[in-house]
Amino acid sequence: MDIKKVMVIGAGQMGSGIAQVCAMSGYNVVLHDLKQEFVDRGMGIINKNLSRQVEKEKMSEDNKNSILGRINPSTELNNAADADLVIEAAVENMEIKTKLFAQLDEIAPEHAILASNTSSLPITEIAAATKRPEKVIGMHFMNPVPVMKLVEIIRGLATANEVYTAIEDMSKSLNKVPVEVNDFPGFVSNRILMPMINEAVYTLYEGVASKEAIDEVMKLGMNHPMGPLTLADFIGLDTCLYIMETLHEGFGDDKYRPCPLLRKYVKAGWLGKKSGRGFYEYS
Ligand code: CAA
Repeated sequence: MDIKKVMVIGAGQMGSGIAQVCAMSGYNVVLHDLKQEFVDRGMGIINKNLSRQVEKEKMSEDNKNSILGRINPSTELNNAADADLVIEAAVENMEIKTKLFAQLDEIAPEHAILASNTSSLPITEIAAATKRPEKVIGMHFMNPVPVMKLVEIIRGLATANEVYTAIEDMSKSLNKVPVEVNDFPGFVSNRILMPMINEAVYTLYEGVASKEAIDEVMKLGMNHPMGPLTLADFIGLDTCLYIMETLHEGFGDDKYRPCPLLRKYVKAGWLGKKSGRGFYEYS
């Protein structure tokens, strides 16, 4: 399975990061979103990231330009017609994802692998929307994609071994460390991370400590780069809530019950860094 052309669906924070690291490793990339303004915003994020590398003298201007030159913007799903790999990083909504995968299944060449960057939705269910479930796989990158080393690779029930190996090799070619996991709610990363974040929100809700104190304990006491409430703001409180709900529904165990304070913040539109306010305020 020779992967040369990669199409990334969704030009948000994750999609643009994935497109960036693919282009940096020499792949020809198509960065796709529904509207031109979304694609432009994604290209803007990539440009800013690469320019910062140039300013720090970690990358030449020529290199930056050739990386940007390898990323082609798209608002036409038909551009998947000659892709070897499609990585979907659209919104976390099963209906949208299954519709998208059914369409991609029709458009993409027979040999193409269809991967999803979903953070918690079942790969097996996404795969069932296609006629090629053996070529569907989870490729879960971490935010910020250009910095974080992990790619959690999720095998769906039907994922073929050679597809797994191709994605493992491809992830290594991106200078990432692939880790194999099976298809269960939240996989490994969010099954462990989100209950910790949710517990931090409960700790705040129950008045055990201030938000700053909770973050400081975990940052300095456990050597985490960010405290859990800062991290929740960084990930997005709506995303955190959605993943907790997926865990709660998937396992049916009350230990995954989302904290009412998390719900309240999301209802208020306090979604974290992206909306200017979450547990903290951002200017
Ligand atoms: N995009 C690209 N590069 C970025 C960046 C971004 N958004 N933010 C920081 N960087 C780069 C900086 O340019 C810098 O690069 P150089 O070393 O080349 O100079 C480097 O990262 C370090 O940045 P800073 O010195 O500014 O800041 P820092 O040392 O505090 O690191 C951080 C920032 C990497 C975000 C760090 O705080 C961290 O690791 N936080 C935890 C992140 C985390 O846990 N991510 C996983 C979230 S969960 C997830 O993604 C999965 C899910 O499904 C929800």
